[in-house]
Amino acid sequence: MELILLGPPGAGKGTQSKLLETRYGVAQISTGDMLRAEVKAGTPIGLEAKSIMDAGKLVSDDILIRMIGERIKRPDCAKGFILDGFPRTVPQAEALDKLLHEQAVDLDAVIELKVDEAILVERISGRYSCAKCGEGYHDKFKQPKTPGVCDACGGTEFIRRPDDKAETVHARLEAYNAQTAPILPYYRARGRLFTVDGMAEMDEVEAQIEAVLRGLGVAAA
Ligand code: AP5
Repeated sequence: MELILLGPPGAGKGTQSKLLETRYGVAQISTGDMLRAEVKAGTPIGLEAKSIMDAGKLVSDDILIRMIGERIKRPDCAKGFILDGFPRTVPQAEALDKLLHEQAVDLDAVIELKVDEAILVERISGRYSCAKCGEGYHDKFKQPKTPGVCDACGGTEFIRRPDDKAETVHARLEAYNAQTAPILPYYRARGRLFTVDGMAEMDEVEAQIEAVLRGLGVAAA
């Protein structure tokens, strides 16, 4: 399965792609996570990306296209992948078409998660994750079962992303509307775009995505 999850910041791309990764047995590829790992490791890419990400802007197409080109050739992508956060511009979408063509792979679907802006801001500003294993939580929508203890690993330290500050969230939404939304017609014209209601409960969103995939003949692992 080759799938793209598309949507504005906070739409639920990361949440859903992790659920689908387990269910479909394919690799989840988050370009945001890859860039944050580069920042943490202090690599040249990380040093270049940090201030751009902190400002809520997009990192250069060249860097992202190179990163994805290398990533989708790794063995864990042999059965397919879910892209979360890529492509984010028309040049990235065009470059992805070329990369997939070179590997004789067809894109199954681009699924857009549609969510109103006021809800996005609420979701992003309440989000945090376990510092040890990265499991995601939310002040209102998803709290650990035991307060202060990660459900997944028992960790007790939690962190918030630097770009989740209110002022940066607005810059990220602007970048989405100006640079990413134009790829929706790109995929619509190719008959690949499907839209689901990202404002529903998490398991309902998952069910909607699975219904799209079933309709395309893509079966769970
Ligand atoms: P990235 O990490 O990709 O961030 P983003 O697109 O802004 O998306 P988010 O991770 O904020 O949100 P999400 O849609 O994954 O939502 P989530 O599931 O967490 O990118 C960060 C930065 O890296 C960019 O700004 C850019 O600088 C750079 N970058 C990355 N890729 C790039 C590219 N290709 N080109 C250039 N630059 C790039 O959900 C959010 C919250 O809501 C969570 O707390 C969750 O629990 C909750 N939630 C989710 N679903 C539901 C639901 N149905 N109901 C209630 N709550 C829900």
